[in-house]
This record gives sequence, structure tokens and C-alpha cells, in this order.
Amino acid sequence: MTDREDKLINVKGIYFAYKRRDVLEDITFSIGAGDFLAIIGPNGSGKSTLIKLILGLLTPSRGEITLFGTPLHHFHQWHLVGYVPQKATHIDPIFPISVAEVVGLGLLAAKRPPRWIKNNDRDIIKEALTDVGMWGLAHRRIGDLSGGQQQRVFIARAIVNQPRILFLDEPTTGIDATAQEDFYNLLDRLNRAGITIVLVTHDIGVVNKYVNKVACLNKRMVFHGTHEEFCSSPRAQALIPGEDHLILHRH
Ligand SMILES: Nc1ncnc2c1ncn2[C@@H]1O[C@H](COP(=O)(O)OP(=O)(O)OP(=O)(O)O)[C@@H](O)[C@H]1O
Ligand SMILES: [Mg+2]
Repeated sequence: MTDREDKLINVKGIYFAYKRRDVLEDITFSIGAGDFLAIIGPNGSGKSTLIKLILGLLTPSRGEITLFGTPLHHFHQWHLVGYVPQKATHIDPIFPISVAEVVGLGLLAAKRPPRWIKNNDRDIIKEALTDVGMWGLAHRRIGDLSGGQQQRVFIARAIVNQPRILFLDEPTTGIDATAQEDFYNLLDRLNRAGITIVLVTHDIGVVNKYVNKVACLNKRMVFHGTHEEFCSSPRAQALIPGEDHLILHRH
């Protein structure tokens, strides 16, 4: 097996522009099985766009992406890939759907037609909600939950198909410090259970004790390497505003 085949995701020479404004230029990197990768960079640096390109939601103008060794346009095993988008919590508060149903929708999305929930699926939904500590609220309406609780439900929806890789785009925005800690511990547990994690975040100071790889984006890939390399890279550090929050040693 070559090094490239060993990687879950390979991104090679990607360019992307919205209308005529270039957003990403010459992006090349890969994500290995078992990695916990943090993607950081200023607002508007192209982080969400890069995730959407990898998920096939946008198409690059140049370059190629492979998932599990398969070129993106031939890839169909989307049940292997979980995604929590940046604005997942912006839901209609009166939408009459329960927590368990939100997770069930994740399960249905990966099924072939005819799609319906079977008895055995209820156990799978229960397991996912138990994993994120939300089984107790399974029958509550999603709109009645707090932002942090909703975020946990969206994680449950993303892991219900037992993905091999999970993408999370700034999942802790608006979540208090205690809930954030619980949340990162949950991601750490999932990672130790073998799920590759890709986390877009502005909190590198908080997540640096969990991640093993760091990618710094600013239209181009400014830095990509191990956490240890990141800690000693002035180029990477220069991207992070402020100085006093750079507690870059592991705890
Ligand atoms: N749908 C769109 N149409 C046009 N331009 C867009 C669109 N989405 C994003 N952009 C622009 O592309 C650039 C990159 O946006 P992107 O959302 O990828 O940044 P980001 O790194 O995720 O930022 P943030 O940290 O604020 O989430 C920004 O300049 C943004 O204004
Ligand atoms: Mg974004």
C-alpha cells in the first residue's frame, strides 16, 4: 500500500472561486486514518469552503480529491462520512420534530429507498444519543433544547451511521466552557474508538491537547503538520491573533 492509498482523504492542487473571487489556491494535503486534525485560520480564510469541497458540496475549478482511495466524483459511500455544518443550530424553533427523530433522519439519509425506521434502528438511535449524553431528552422537541444540547444532538445525527471520519465545522460556537470541555472529551473518545476527526476551530488553545495534526489555512495552506511541528512553526503561530492564549504544550 502506498502512502497515498493509506490516507482516508487526499486533496491535491485544489483551486476554488465563488463567482470570480479566488477563495482557495493550490491546496494539497491528506488526512490519515485515526487523525484528529484541527483546521484553523482567520474568518473568510476558506475553512468551511474546503470542507464543502471534500464533501462534494462544491466543485473545485482545478485539482483532485480522493476519499477512501476513490475519486470524489465516483465516491458513493457517504455513510462512512459524518458532517456537522457550521450553522447546524440555526433551526426553526417551532419545527415539530423530536430529538430522536432528528437523529433518525441521519439514519434514513444513508438508506436506500424505501426508507423507514425499523425496530433495530431505534436501538442504534438510542446508542448514538446515549453516546452524546442526550438519551434522557430523546422525546423533547429539538427547538426546545439549548444551543449546546442541540449541538450534541447534531453530533449524534452525524455519528449514527458509524462513520469512519467525522467533519465538524466550528461546533462549539455559543457553547459554555464546561459544555465545551465535555464536548471535546466526547470527540476524544470517538477518536480513540477509531473515528478520524476533522475539526474546524478558532480555539486552538483549547483543542491543542486533543489534536495530533494541525492545518492553517489562509487562502493557501500556510502550514500543515503534526501538532509538535505546529508548536514550533512561527509561520503557523503568526496566523493566530493574540499572544497570551498560546498555551501550546499538552496537558
Ligand atoms: N456562498 C458564497 N458565495 C460567495 N462568497 C462566499 C460564499 N461562501 C463564502 N464566501 C466567501 O468565501 C470566503 C471564504 O469563506 P469560508 O466560509 O470558507 O471562510 P471560513 O474560513 O469558514 O470563515 P469563518 O471562520 O468566518 O467561518 C469568504 O471571503 C466568504 O465571504
Ligand atoms: Mg466557516
